[in-house]
Amino acid sequence: MDADALEREGLAAAAAAESADAIEVVRVEYLGRKSALKQALREVRDRETGMALNAVRERLEAAIDARESELARAELDARLTTERVDVTLPVGGYSRGKLHLITQIRREVEDVFLGLGYNVVDGREVESTYYNFDALNFPAGHPARSPLATLFVDEKTVLRTETSPSQVRTMEAQEPPIYIVSLGRTYRRDTPDATHSPIFHQVEGLAVDEGITLADLTGTLDFLLRKLFGENRRTEFRTHYFPFTEPSIEAYVSCHVCDGDGCPVCRHSGWIEVGGAGMVDPKVFEAVGYDPERYSGFAFGWGLERIAMLRHEFPDLRELWRNDLRFSRQF
Ligand code: DAH
Repeated sequence: MDADALEREGLAAAAAAESADAIEVVRVEYLGRKSALKQALREVRDRETGMALNAVRERLEAAIDARESELARAELDARLTTERVDVTLPVGGYSRGKLHLITQIRREVEDVFLGLGYNVVDGREVESTYYNFDALNFPAGHPARSPLATLFVDEKTVLRTETSPSQVRTMEAQEPPIYIVSLGRTYRRDTPDATHSPIFHQVEGLAVDEGITLADLTGTLDFLLRKLFGENRRTEFRTHYFPFTEPSIEAYVSCHVCDGDGCPVCRHSGWIEVGGAGMVDPKVFEAVGYDPERYSGFAFGWGLERIAMLRHEFPDLRELWRNDLRFSRQF
């Protein structure tokens, strides 16, 4: 028997085996009881031949063992990849948050006025009675000065009931021309219901320059109303009264439901009231040291919740504070 040839053949067969079954066949063929090697070993008579054949047996055993574990690992790897179970769950993507409807409207109004060349200024939510009432020409016995209507911090300090005090602070701080809007929270001692909230938001506007007229006011508000409610809406202005404007007007927009024909939403008038405005009263100019003979101006103050309700036709402003996502996600 040619031991070297047998070894080469056995090593080649082991290397060529491609599965656990195949390597077992190789093992039986080269190392099994009936294999040529085992038979030769049984017939060995001299020590040298025995040692040589045993060495061949050991090398073949080692090679077959090595190939066997290699194949076992490969088979396990294959099973691990083909039989893999995906234990993860799809997350379904992330949804981006949105700004609250009031914040959206606030920014929209700011954008409209920035586009008209106005500045946006901040006011104070805690305000003195001087800025909230006196400088705005509220007479001594005005009902808004009552603690039943207004939230007082102390005798001379209130939570502002309107954004109008920022008019006065702006005029005190600079000379005309002035073109500003000021938006933010306002407070009144109201019990919450479908149309009242003790905390709400207003936009205040003020323009002071030489030669400003009521036509400038109505033109500006008309522009704002169309931006907020759509180009097809018509606007109307009616006389009104505010202590700090003379004359004073109230802005109306044609009803979004009936387009002016009359329906329950507009109480059959065809028009919906949006907010107050007017020409700045000379007394307000005097309080800040402006010459009313030289300057004139207009102002307006509207509620943002009201704009939101009119535009999106929801009947209860408390929805804006409930934080029910089924509501908030619609805007
Ligand atoms: N301050 C008024 C209010 O809260 C709204 C208002 C009316 C503001 C007329 C103005 C204005 O600046 O000219 O009811």
